[in-house]
Amino acid sequence: MLSPFFVEPPPRPISTPAPEPPKAEPSAPAPAVPVVANASEQLDLKTGFEVSSVPKSRDYVFNVTLGRGNPDGFDKSMIFVNGQSPGPLIEANTGDIIRIVVNNQLPEESTTIHWHGIDQRNSNWMDGVHGVTQCAIPPGQSFTYEFNVTGQRGTFWYHSHDSLQYTNGLYGPLVIHDPDEKVPHIDDDKVVMFGDFFHVDAEVLLGEYLKPGGTMAGVEAPPDNIIINGHHQSNCTLTAGKPPVCTAGSLYKTRVQSGKHVRLRLVSHSTSTPFLFSIDSHTLQIIEIDGVEVEPIAATRVFMNPGQRYSVLVTTNQTAGNYKMHVAAARSCFHMGHGTSSFASVNYEAIGILSYDDTDLNAADIGKPWDLFGASNNVTGKEPWESQCRDLPFNLPKPIRKLAAYEVGERNNHSFTFSRENVNGTVRTYINEILYEPLLDDAVLWRVNKVETQQKGLSANWTFGADQFVMVSQDVDKGVQIVVNSNAMMMHPFHLHGQQFQIVGWGPGIFGEGGETTWNLENPMRRDTVTVPGYTHVVLRIRGDNPGVWALHCHILWHAEDGMFVQIAQRMDELENQIKALDGPNGQHPFRGRFCTVHR
Ligand code: C2O
Ligand code: CU
Repeated sequence: MLSPFFVEPPPRPISTPAPEPPKAEPSAPAPAVPVVANASEQLDLKTGFEVSSVPKSRDYVFNVTLGRGNPDGFDKSMIFVNGQSPGPLIEANTGDIIRIVVNNQLPEESTTIHWHGIDQRNSNWMDGVHGVTQCAIPPGQSFTYEFNVTGQRGTFWYHSHDSLQYTNGLYGPLVIHDPDEKVPHIDDDKVVMFGDFFHVDAEVLLGEYLKPGGTMAGVEAPPDNIIINGHHQSNCTLTAGKPPVCTAGSLYKTRVQSGKHVRLRLVSHSTSTPFLFSIDSHTLQIIEIDGVEVEPIAATRVFMNPGQRYSVLVTTNQTAGNYKMHVAAARSCFHMGHGTSSFASVNYEAIGILSYDDTDLNAADIGKPWDLFGASNNVTGKEPWESQCRDLPFNLPKPIRKLAAYEVGERNNHSFTFSRENVNGTVRTYINEILYEPLLDDAVLWRVNKVETQQKGLSANWTFGADQFVMVSQDVDKGVQIVVNSNAMMMHPFHLHGQQFQIVGWGPGIFGEGGETTWNLENPMRRDTVTVPGYTHVVLRIRGDNPGVWALHCHILWHAEDGMFVQIAQRMDELENQIKALDGPNGQHPFRGRFCTVHR
């Protein structure tokens, strides 16, 4: 129950009010209507945004709705933000405050939005994780997210953190500018988001995945397509009769000028499929990884797992014409189930077009593709990727803002081992033999107080229930180490909320059990999503100074939903004080437990 002192705001109107028609007074000056960029101008960052070091607040209203969409020509039900998917661009400068009113206008589903890669420093309850930092926003209700982006810059994104809603379209780009960003000269800047695309509703697929004994039980559904900035084509003849409507769809095409340095901000919004991104006849300079500026790395391709971002600099020094961009599924890294997918009909890849100058957008392309999968795939002889299925060698990227490995407090050493096990006719992830069960009517964050009272005098050992794997760091002024041990075959991309981690060590097998660990303590790579190869361990460190309960999970959504999900808690006393400060006088909790049905 909500606190009796809490008064729900009236539900928002279900549709966006139509803009006022212009006044018919001929001599009156035109009203100052802000010019809102359309979807493709947003993705091309042609918004007239002013990069500045003077902080501002940025206000957005997100109306989340259910509708019909056809990004690849196949008509299906989708979730939109303000009528679009990808959703509207959020653009800010370092140090700004971002405020987003989310109006949940879905007819039946609750929702949350998570701001992937944003630290949420001192604002854990704005992290948008259903069951961890909030209860989901019910249909017809609103929630205002407000947070600052101090000390952050680069390429981020947002997405629903409630079930598989982002697979159904609820995601969008978030770019933080900084006049002091440590990147080479850039003439042109674009967001290029891509992800796998499913013709069947994602919640239906998830139901089949989790359902014991079904034909797709524990089997990750194969996608039907890949979309780039919400575009691709599909072969309607192969799906004849299935969709009510299928048109050919269209390719993502974007203009570049000859002789320029173009930044492409690559974002994978994939549900499960890993990709290799490349552009025919062009090499790429990797300059930013998950919001961390790095010394430029030359490559012909970028391997990307769900949730990861890379900014690449492309020099447009080829003959003017059309060149294909490829977002190719790295199929050998991820064993997808079979089924009735039409993925083969698009050759397991999405194509986009980079069009020089005034080339006819429909003219034949003139580029030469890289050999991504063949034996000779190291064409340049210095390709930095060592495998199709791994991040760059962990000691290769050098953050430009240097930081030595954090010092770890004695009581801040955490470690867990995950494995995939057959349970009752389906597959679930076990974490140190524990099966994670997400809270449906409560959030871990709101249990902090309760548990503290119960456990006063018990060596400050916070527990949150055996089904919540919460690692609490007790040396609050020291860094934290987290060892992720994979006892599973495939690679898994682990994403941490609330801060970037350093990747300080890695090696085969379980940490400390024979397999050697390679350490990199001197300016190690920092990022927020790391690929943990099968049967290996990765050692992460964080500063551990951001009060909160932070999710750490596999970003392959099937796995996040089947239990590959743990939590890191830090600075619990500070967190408790922050939560108390959110409460009103006389024990009212206008914020705490909002939308939760568990009585507190
Ligand atoms: Cu991009 Cu926990 O998520
Ligand atoms: Cu996984």
